[in-house]
Amino acid sequence: MITLNINGEVKSLGDIDPETPLLWALRDTLGLVGTKYGCGIAQCGACTVHVDGNPARACQLPVGALQGVIITTIEGLAAKDGTLSDLQQAWVDYDVPQCGYCQAGQLMSATALLERTPKPTDDDIKTALSGNLCRCGTYNRIAGAIKSVANKKAELEVTETDRAKGA
Ligand code: FES
Ligand code: FES
Repeated sequence: MITLNINGEVKSLGDIDPETPLLWALRDTLGLVGTKYGCGIAQCGACTVHVDGNPARACQLPVGALQGVIITTIEGLAAKDGTLSDLQQAWVDYDVPQCGYCQAGQLMSATALLERTPKPTDDDIKTALSGNLCRCGTYNRIAGAIKSVANKKAELEVTETDRAKGA
């Protein structure tokens, strides 16, 4: 019996073949269909999830190797009450998606980027998302949305520092 920690919950996969890629366990066994199948060979990034906070290709991860790690999918980015994460909201504000197929993977890679690099440069963004392909060419809007969240956080920090100085 394989159990995985996904989006803060322990989920049983029953007697699934341990070699089954996480992508199919998410979609077919658990009904978490936000993670997309693009190429199946680690080339497109559509299936990106987080494993212990790092972006990883769900099409390449056998479920048998994932017990004890923390997995987050696109369904786990919003708060439990449905409030979107800052990046998800920026995706809406910047009208990022076109067909939408690559966007869950893009958001997962962008979220991981901002967690480790709160003020990314253009090059940081390019490098971090270089493995996430978008046939619709939404790259500029993705970069704009990421930078808007980074800038808002930086502004908030300045305001809080000013407030602390004035106190
Ligand atoms: S489906 Fe996994 S990288 Fe393309
Ligand atoms: S929005 Fe269509 S592939 Fe990226």
